Order: sequence, then structure tokens, then C-alpha cells
Amino acid sequence: MWQADTALATLTVVTISSLAATDLEIVGYCRSYVVRVLVITGAGVSAESGIPTFRGKDGYWRNLDPIKLATREAFARDPELVWQWYRERRKRILNAQPNAGHEAIARLAQRAGEFLLVTQNVDDLHERAGLGKTETVQIHGDIFLTKCSRCDFSCAGRDGSPEPPDAHAREPESGRLRSIVPFSENDGNLPRCSECNALMRPGVVWFGEPLPVRETQRVENYLQRDSCGAVIVAGTTATFGYIINWALRASRRGGELIEVNPEETPLSRFATRLVRESAALALPRIVDQLIN
Ligand code: OAD
Repeated sequence: MWQADTALATLTVVTISSLAATDLEIVGYCRSYVVRVLVITGAGVSAESGIPTFRGKDGYWRNLDPIKLATREAFARDPELVWQWYRERRKRILNAQPNAGHEAIARLAQRAGEFLLVTQNVDDLHERAGLGKTETVQIHGDIFLTKCSRCDFSCAGRDGSPEPPDAHAREPESGRLRSIVPFSENDGNLPRCSECNALMRPGVVWFGEPLPVRETQRVENYLQRDSCGAVIVAGTTATFGYIINWALRASRRGGELIEVNPEETPLSRFATRLVRESAALALPRIVDQLIN
């Protein structure tokens, strides 16, 4: 059985006959401790939906050079090549479906007292599995967002389209309709910002760029408010220090740290439970254990 659950059960039995105010506080503390969850996901969670990972034998970076596709310098050098890669990825994502791993995480969100998903994935499969925007931090951005490469104008792509936004696109924050120069594959036009005429670019974080401030702050706020009873890290090589840092801080008061990954990562040695299986196989079972 889940360790923290057992701790709660034991404490409740011991104190049930003589519940003083302090005991009640302890029980209350344990309850909130048990039901607070942080889930961190990476490309491996979408692998079984047919979205390639980045590293590993079938990953994008196996035969594509990230420096030629996922940096500002690459975009400055060859924006058409970069847009082409992102358009292909948008198409692939639009044709994919959430898998049992995404669905299990969405189920956990419904049952946890407090829940936050931090995903490095720029796809929308967590959202399509049922997770709300307030429960999700897309720390590496959103592939369906198109933003100006110079000013701070950005807009969401058309629903159901792999294209960058049409001549009229809706701003994600205000819902205002704005016009941009549309992208057309045939005439080689790239989308341009209606505000400053600079090229529009995909709304993702590239190598060498800082993480989005607001999203980072949402993670920090969640971690600072309290620790978590369960932290699940699934489908990521945990290449970036902040991923390990957030997982360790969230589980700092003895919360369970569960890693779901067929392979070892730098996080593995800190995990209290290693699940060397695929996310679609392991997550439904782990979530069942946590919520039952
Ligand atoms: P990676 O491609 O680095 O790693 C994928 C991880 O998923 C590996 O550890 C695999 O062992 C594991 N994996 C593969 N299939 C799996 C499955 N079915 N179930 C569970 N795990 C599986 O992807 P990320 O760690 O997400 O950044 O990469 C982090 C970041 O590096 C990405 O967000 C992207 C990339 O460059 C940016 O674009 C900024």
C-alpha cells in the first residue's frame, strides 16, 4: 500500500480515542499532506500516442540537430526550415490521441486534494485527456501558440489546424481578434506580426532561452505553499536541473517520489519507487493505487 496512506491510517487509529486539538491538527496536516500531488511529465508520456521523444534511439535528436531547429540562431538563419519542422509536428500531434497515461493523470487530478502537472511537452494531449489549464504548467511552451519573434504579441493557432494562425487569430489572454499576415505554404510567406512586422515563431522554449516567468512562478508558488504526499515523474530524461530540483523540493517532507521510465535517469537515485515500465502501462495502475 502507498506509504503515506499507511501513515495516515496508523495515526488516525492511535489518536482516535483521545483527540486533542493538537491531534486534530496533526490528522488534518497528514490528510492535506497525503492528497497533495505534483506530476512532472516529459516526451516519454506521449511516445505511446505516436509522438517521438527527443533523445533515445527513436528520438528527434537522433538524426536532427537541435542547434539547426530549436534555437533563435536557427530561426534567424532559416525560418522556413524551422517552421516546416514545427508544422509537421503540429500535424502529427493533431492526428494523435491521448493514451492511457494521459488519462490516468487526468483522473488523478480529479481525485487529489491539490494537484499540479508540470509538463515539458508542448503538445495538447494532457489537455485533451481532460486536464484544465489551471492544473497544468507547460514549462517549455505550447506548440499551437504562435508568438512574435520581436515584441510580446502572441496568438493561438486555429482549432484543428496545424497551420500558424490564419489572417485573424484570437489572443489567448484577452480573446481579442487580431490580424496577422497569414502563413501560406505555396508562396513561401511566413507569418508576420501585425504589431511590428517581425516574423512570428512557434510559442515554445528553445535551447538557450529562459523559461517563461509566469509559468515558473506558478510552479514556485505551488512548491512554496506546501510539500506533496506524492510526486510522479514520468517519461523524462530529467536532463534539466530544474526538473530534479522541483521533484525533490515537492517530496521534501517524506512524500513518495515515483519515477516512471523504462530507463535510468539522474533522478532515479532519489526516487522512493522506480517503475521501469512504459507510462501508458504503469500510470493507470499507480493512479489506482493512489486514489483507492
Ligand atoms: P527525452 O526525449 O529527453 O526523454 C524521453 C524519456 O522518456 C526517456 O528517459 C525515455 O527513457 C522515456 N520514455 C520513452 N518511452 C517511454 C514510455 N513509453 N513511457 C515512459 N517513458 C518513456 O524527453 P524529455 O525529457 O521530455 O525541450 O526532454 C526534455 C526536453 O528536451 C524537451 O521538452 C525538449 C527537449 O529538447 C525543449 O524543446 C526546450
